[in-house]
Amino acid sequence: MKFFVTGASGYIGGSVAAHLAAAGHQVTGLVRSAGKVDAVRKLGIEPVTGTLDDADLLARSARAADVVVNAASADHRGAVESLLGALAGSGKAFIHTSGSSIVGTRSRGERSDDIFDEDTPVTPSPARVARVALNQFILSHHDKGVRPVIICPSLIYGIGHGVGRDSVQVPLLIKLAKTRGNAAHAGPGENIWSNVHIDDLVPLYALVIDKAPSGSFYFAENGEDSMRETCESINRMLGFAGPPSSMSMQEAAAAWSEGTAEDTMASNSRVRAKRARQLGWQPKARGLIEEIETGCYRE
Ligand SMILES: NC(=O)c1ccc[n+]([C@@H]2O[C@H](COP(=O)([O-])OP(=O)(O)OC[C@H]3O[C@@H](n4cnc5c(N)ncnc54)[C@H](OP(=O)(O)O)[C@@H]3O)[C@@H](O)[C@H]2O)c1
Repeated sequence: MKFFVTGASGYIGGSVAAHLAAAGHQVTGLVRSAGKVDAVRKLGIEPVTGTLDDADLLARSARAADVVVNAASADHRGAVESLLGALAGSGKAFIHTSGSSIVGTRSRGERSDDIFDEDTPVTPSPARVARVALNQFILSHHDKGVRPVIICPSLIYGIGHGVGRDSVQVPLLIKLAKTRGNAAHAGPGENIWSNVHIDDLVPLYALVIDKAPSGSFYFAENGEDSMRETCESINRMLGFAGPPSSMSMQEAAAAWSEGTAEDTMASNSRVRAKRARQLGWQPKARGLIEEIETGCYRE
């Protein structure tokens, strides 16, 4: 089959595109940085140079493919409009990557007991209203001759298989821990994120491409940990004695930017991948704490 993947030099898109190419598919990937073109090609992905704002290029590339995987951005509405506009009436699959901070509550490091599966109503925070509206727009194309499907990963960990090897939260925590000589969370660190290994997420894309019905939405998670538990495990991995430290929200914003501190590091995002499991997804990679202490982050 022919695939067009956006974010082909990134963590998720690169891992999915490399997997599809290794499985023998013809994969074209959007690459915006000239310096990454050769590395993408080496993975068996044919690079198309451009950005998410190149509407004609996106439309042409989508029409030339059997399936489009959009993994460059959970938020870029213009790109989604270009891609879906080109696919309308074709019956082709459009697999979009969202992110589970759509259920996130800003809680300054305090725990929330709210847990969401695909049937739980979501009232997004102001920071995620546009992302939720974009998801609804995408799924509405079920009626427009497209097979739209959304995968909504939680915190992803593990080393990617493409050019972009690193995810977001865990590498940020490890980097800060190395700088300070001690891991640090925002506020009390009791806030909880569901999480999923990249080695389990990639097979979910493959399964969804094969089997997901039009208009379906899938959370991706295989467990959850608080930021404090994650920081404790980073300290054990790095050999730092004692408990992790607690940062004020001001300190956390200075370390990571205000949006990242509030919406991805000090918030809660607790989801359950009910539908993915019903579809037959069987995650089996190491859990987050085990991966930190005995896996790829030790290198
Ligand atoms: N990682 C996670 O834990 C996680 C979890 C849930 C959802 N998500 C969401 O999934 C999306 C992808 O995440 P990721 O972790 O794979 O990020 P990433 O490693 O930064 O990859 C993003 C990819 O998209 C490309 N890209 C970004 N903006 C572009 C633009 N305007 N035009 C063309 N290419 C563009 C990047 O190109 P360059 O290589 O040139 O930068 C890169 O290849 C993000 O929206 C993220 O919020 C991530």
